[in-house]
Amino acid sequence: MEKKDYDMEGEIRLWGTYVPDEAITAVQDILRSKWLNTGKQEALFRKKVCETFNIPYCVAVPNGTAALRASLAMLGVGPGDEVISTPYTFMATNTSILEQGATPVFADIKYDDLNIDPESIKERITDKTKAIICVHYAGNTCDMDEIRKIGRENNLPIIEDCAHAMGSKYKGQFTGSLADIACFSFQVVKIITCGDGGVISTTNEEYYKKLKQYIWYGVDRETKQTRLLDPLPDDIDILGFKYNMNDIVATLGITGLNNFDIPMKRRKEIGERYRDELAGLSKVTLMNYQPDKTPNYQIFPIHVEGREEFAKHMQKYSIQVNVNNRRNDRYSIFGGKRDLPVAERVDNDAILIPIHSDLTDSHIDRIVEAIKEYDRT
Ligand SMILES: Cc1ncc(COP(=O)(O)O)c(C=O)c1O
Repeated sequence: MEKKDYDMEGEIRLWGTYVPDEAITAVQDILRSKWLNTGKQEALFRKKVCETFNIPYCVAVPNGTAALRASLAMLGVGPGDEVISTPYTFMATNTSILEQGATPVFADIKYDDLNIDPESIKERITDKTKAIICVHYAGNTCDMDEIRKIGRENNLPIIEDCAHAMGSKYKGQFTGSLADIACFSFQVVKIITCGDGGVISTTNEEYYKKLKQYIWYGVDRETKQTRLLDPLPDDIDILGFKYNMNDIVATLGITGLNNFDIPMKRRKEIGERYRDELAGLSKVTLMNYQPDKTPNYQIFPIHVEGREEFAKHMQKYSIQVNVNNRRNDRYSIFGGKRDLPVAERVDNDAILIPIHSDLTDSHIDRIVEAIKEYDRT
């Protein structure tokens, strides 16, 4: 049988999952309480998300993909509409546009940080454009001043895809309130996890009210009535999804947020050490981390010369490295390859090296030494 990526005896893994001890007893308590549905824990989870990231409003959903789709639906994105997005991301960013029957229009990216290029966004705006999605790739935030300006000038809402960017900052402000709407993922390899989970945050109260309806059959669960016969409203005029988060999942999110600083601190130590030790190599180029952007080091991509050779070299030392994402337009579901020279270059030379809170200092020594050795050969 082929070896699975979760069966790696002794290898240094690319991904890790952080679960604080308190999660185990907290989930037991919820199971014993017999209230497993969306309830007090879900409300507390949302409150903690707002407090932790300084966000005015948020709703909780089952995953980041659902967050993106519900956001697009709430904005009225549908068949015939275009959404400008990045091709260099996990496909969920863009399948959510297809799920709404709309068309992703791919802008090119910047080589030095893998984020969407604001100049390329401008070139792709048409009268069919309904929204712009930007992904803070690897937790290194996008050029938000420029992107917000484009949004304002063209009256287009901006969705931050924060699946990589929980706890990242732009000019001192957390992601999640840098634009109109933001979508977070609490999937297993994220800095903290719900197993699977998602959050949609917004700075717009009207959007918030509508989002509450879109994530549960068109009904705001908090305004359900206590009528004897029928707690639902007399009429439902929004076609919503079944995207509520239950209290078991929310409990994992709460305990994760209670301990958020622990994995963040470890990732920062590792990220800074890589930046220190790997700067100035000849076959490896680091991303550009600008001083007004504070990354969370969700992942650590590098550009490398001879990517396949590099992967073989790292494999010799039992260090897992791989390509995280491919330019999405190479997948036929998106309708064929576009002319995106920078995305093409990145698609051939970007690779991830391990970063997560399970890595020890001696793991990092091994990784750094192996990369330096590759660079010398
Ligand atoms: C950039 C990006 N957007 C969206 C998602 C989807 O998140 P989820 O797996 O929670 O649905 C991911 C998943 O990791 C992602 O990397």
